[in-house]
Parts: sequence; C-alpha cells; structure tokens
Amino acid sequence: MSNCKMAGAAAVTYVAMWLLFLSPGSTEARVKKPYQPLTMKVPYYILPIIGYNMSDLEPYITEKTIFAHYLGHHAAYQSKMNAALSEWKKEEPDNKFAEESIFEIIKRLDEVPEKYRTSIGNQGGGFLNHGIYFGCMSPNPANVTRTPSGKLLKDITSTFGSFEAFKEKFTQQAATLFGSGYVWLVRKSFDADAELAIVTTANQDSPITQGMMPLLVIDVWEHAYYLKHEFRRVKYIDDWWSVVDWVNVLQMEGFFGSPEKWTMISGTNSRRMNCEQY
Ligand SMILES: *[C@@H]1O[C@H](CO)[C@@H](O)[C@H](O)[C@H]1NC(C)=O
Ligand SMILES: *[C@@H]1O[C@H](CO)[C@@H](O)[C@H](O)[C@H]1NC(C)=O
Ligand SMILES: [Fe+2]
Repeated sequence: MSNCKMAGAAAVTYVAMWLLFLSPGSTEARVKKPYQPLTMKVPYYILPIIGYNMSDLEPYITEKTIFAHYLGHHAAYQSKMNAALSEWKKEEPDNKFAEESIFEIIKRLDEVPEKYRTSIGNQGGGFLNHGIYFGCMSPNPANVTRTPSGKLLKDITSTFGSFEAFKEKFTQQAATLFGSGYVWLVRKSFDADAELAIVTTANQDSPITQGMMPLLVIDVWEHAYYLKHEFRRVKYIDDWWSVVDWVNVLQMEGFFGSPEKWTMISGTNSRRMNCEQY
C-alpha cells in the first residue's frame, strides 16, 4: 500500500474509532476500539489498547499490578499529557509543532517552548514509554522459552556475543539502575541497520529524545512490580523475561517511521483488553 493510501486509511480508522468510542454504553464498541498509533497526529490521545487481559500475564505479573500500572499510572500520564498539549495549543494557536504527533514532539523535545517542556517531557515520555512497555509483553502461561529470531538475533549476537550474554547484561542493568527508570534495547538511530545498544533512562526520559529507536523496554519503577514482588526487583526481572514477546519486539522496529504498523501489536495473543470489566 502506498504511504498516501496508508494516511487515508489512518484517517478513516481515526474517525471510526471516535464513532465507536462515542457510541453510548456499548461494551462491544469499547472492546473493538482500534489501536491508536502513537505516531499519529491527533487532537486527543486515547490509552493504547494492549493485546491481552489484565490477568493474562499471571503468574509473572499480576492482574492487580497491571490494573494499577495501566489504568492507574499509564492513564494518568495519558490525561496529564493531553492536558499539557491542549494548554500549549490554546496558548500558541499558530505553533504548528504543537500539532505534531507525541512521538515527534518527544523526539524534538528541545524545540518545545520552555514553559511546557518539563510537563510535556514527563507526561508525554510516560505515555510513550508505557505504551512500548505494555506492547513488548504477551501472555506465556506455559513459560515457554522465547528468543528473538532473524536479523535481530543476528545483530544481538554480533553486538553482545550471544543472546544469553545480552540477557545477562540487560538483567544486570535493570537490577542495578538506581531510582526510577527504564532499561532499553535500542538501535542507536531510527534506522533498521543502526547498531544495537542497552541504555538506561531516568524517570520518564525517553531514548526517542536522544534519537534512538526503542525495541524492548523494562519499566523498573517500583509501581511496575511492588504489588507482587515488593522490594525484590531481581525476581520481577526474572518473571518479566517470561512475558517478553519477541514477535512484538520485532514489530517495534520500524514502527516509528510507519504508524500503520502500530495496529499490528498483537503478538502471540490477539485478544484485546476489555476495560469495561474493571
Ligand atoms: C479475558 O478475555 C476473554 C475474551 O477475550 C474473556 O473471555 C475472559 O473472561 C477475560 N478474562 C478476564 C479475567 O477478564
Ligand atoms: C520460567 O522459565 C525461566 C527460564 O527457564 C525460569 O528462569 C523461571 O524461573 C520460570 N518461571 C516460572 C514462574 O516458572
Ligand atoms: Fe510504569
């Protein structure tokens, strides 16, 4: 499909989404709400839909944890980001940059007027980072061993020596990161051939702001694990590896230049989360 047709399709999807979203009291409509790309220019961002029910990551990550993390923390970033963006747009109606996608705004955060930069960086970063975190996981009740494949595996092997060596280094960074933040597998630029790296970010900073393309992320803020694992971060990291979905991670690559690919987040489980149940 051409880019032009893709843009048309995206617009139709967006209108359809609102029609579904606004239809009164229809659970069915809510369930079918399509995924809204983070790279889409929209006046209002919905909470990205994730491809599993809140209890589906059990026993590794509990339903209570996902409930608090997704409908609590992620939703708070979503609403505060929307508020910050609309304030900026209201006060600077002629500023075209304010109408860019949140992805583009976070990428060029230094161009955001100083007055809004901190709140948009924090809230928008929180919104994007969580979208990627939830998107990288999928249910794995049988604890099947999952590994990347193809070019990504080849690149991981050539950069880190082996998949096991990569996993060990990533785990070590996640276990020792001080304070609240994230550990990422990134490409050093928005290019499928760019070198891989493991990087950490503090608070809600995003590697996107540093021009790096996120592929995989673990959230090591305490809210990501405290309800089940309490202070045992290392146990959480071990459990988290079980729900990493390399199919989703592979799809993450290239997302950022191709918004339509966001709709492919489904991984090994294409069910949609039903928020109406909570
Ligand atoms: C998860 O979703 C399925 C349908 O996709 C539904 O049958 C099931 O009841 C849900 N589970 C919970 C705990 O909400
Ligand atoms: C799942 O499998 C991994 C790798 O074999 C293991 O380290 C982990 O403890 C298992 N987790 C559970 C909950 O069985
Ligand atoms: Fe989080």
